Amino acid sequence: MYAHVAESASDILLASYDAVPYGGGAIAGTRPDYLAAAARLRGLTTPPIRGCRVLDLGCATGGNLLSMALSLPESNFVGIDLSPRQIASARNAAKTIGVSNVQFEAMSITDVDEELGTFDYIVSHGVYSWVPPRVQKALLEVCSKSLAPEGLAYVSYNTYPGWHARGLVRDMMLFHDRPELSPAARVQRARDLLKSVADGVPKSDQVYAAVLQEEIATLSEASETYFMHEELESENHPVYFIDFAQRAAATGLQYVSEVIPSLTDTQISGDLRATLRSWSADNLQYEQYFDFVRNRTFRRSLLCHAGRTVEVEPTAAGVPSMHLRARCFVDTDAPEAKQPDCTCSSTRARPHCHSTRCSRRAEPDSAAPTPFPPTRSPTRCCAVRSLG
Ligand SMILES: C[S@@+](CC[C@H](N)C(=O)[O-])C[C@H]1O[C@@H](n2cnc3c(N)ncnc32)[C@H](O)[C@@H]1O
Repeated sequence: MYAHVAESASDILLASYDAVPYGGGAIAGTRPDYLAAAARLRGLTTPPIRGCRVLDLGCATGGNLLSMALSLPESNFVGIDLSPRQIASARNAAKTIGVSNVQFEAMSITDVDEELGTFDYIVSHGVYSWVPPRVQKALLEVCSKSLAPEGLAYVSYNTYPGWHARGLVRDMMLFHDRPELSPAARVQRARDLLKSVADGVPKSDQVYAAVLQEEIATLSEASETYFMHEELESENHPVYFIDFAQRAAATGLQYVSEVIPSLTDTQISGDLRATLRSWSADNLQYEQYFDFVRNRTFRRSLLCHAGRTVEVEPTAAGVPSMHLRARCFVDTDAPEAKQPDCTCSSTRARPHCHSTRCSRRAEPDSAAPTPFPPTRSPTRCCAVRSLG
C-alpha cells in the first residue's frame, strides 16, 4: 500500500515537471571547488577538482551541470532526473553548446545503483524537500553509497521553524488551487488569494498581517516556475535540521557545515552563542538552536562519510591551499585613499584615481592579470584559481 502511494506521488511529480519544466541555471555554492573550500575550512582533505566526477541528483534541464562542465573540461559530470522532457532538453543543450564531458539520464533517484560508478562530489539542490519520503531516503542513501571515500555531498532543503509560517500560506493557496487551470492562471489565483486575505486581516492581528506581508514580498519576484513547484507542488516537506542530520547519520553520512555562510549568522552575539553551546550536547543540537534564533527557512548542507574528523569551527589550516577572491570596496574617506601627489579635487582612491579630471589618473596596467569577475568600479577583485 505504501509503495503504491509513493509510486503515485512520483508519477504526479513526473507529470508536473514534464508539464512545467524547471529551467534552472547555475546554482551558487554547488561547484566542486566551492564544496572543497567549505570542507577544507573544516579541516577535511578533499578530492582534486581537476578530473573529478560529479553527480547531480534531480538536475532538471541541466543548467547547473552544464555550466560546471564547461568550466571544468577535464572533469566528468552525470545528471539524472525523473522527467524525460527535462532530460531531453538538457541533452539538447549539451549538444548545441558542444559539451561532451556531461551525461544526462532520465531515471529516478530510487533507481541509482553501482552502474553509475562512484563520485567525488554529489549535489542535489532543491530536491530533498520536494520529493516523497521514500525518495528522500533514497537520495541520502545514494549520497552515501555512491560517494568516494573523501567525497562531499551537497543537499539543500526547506527547514523549520521558518517554514511553519511559509507553510501556513502554502496550505491556504493549495486549498484555493484549481489544478485543471493553466499554470499562469493557477499562480495568478494564488496571488489574488494572498492579497485578498492580507487586505482583510483585522488590524488587531499584527503577527498574522506581518506573516502575510512577508510572504507577499517573497513571492512578488518569484517566477511562475518557482511558484508552481514551490508553493503549488504536491510535495514540499520542510524538515528540522536535527532530523535531517540524524537521517543523514542513519545512512552513514555526517554533517560538515553549511556551504554558504550567512551574514545573519555573524550578527548573533558571542554571549548568545555561548548560551546555545551550553545547552547543546553536540554541534548538531547547537545548529538546531541556531535555526530557532534565525527562524531559518532553507539550508544548503555539506555532508561527508561518517568517521572523518570534522572541525566544529572553521579552521585556518586549509586556507594556504586556497586562493582568495573578495569584493573590495575602496574607502574614499580614508586619508591613505588620496594619491599623495594628486592635484585634482577628487578624493578617489589609489592606486587608480577614478576621476576622469585627474591628470595623474592611472592608466590600466596591461601586464596585470585580468580580474575575475571583470572589475566594476569602484569594486576591485583579485583573481581566483580553482583548488586542486
Ligand atoms: C525543484 S526542482 C530542482 C531542479 C534543480 N536541481 C534546480 O535546483 O534547478 C526538483 C527536481 O527534482 C526532480 N525529481 C523529482 N523526483 C525525482 C526522482 N524520484 N528522481 C529524480 N529526480 C526527481 C524533478 O523532476 C525536478 O527536476
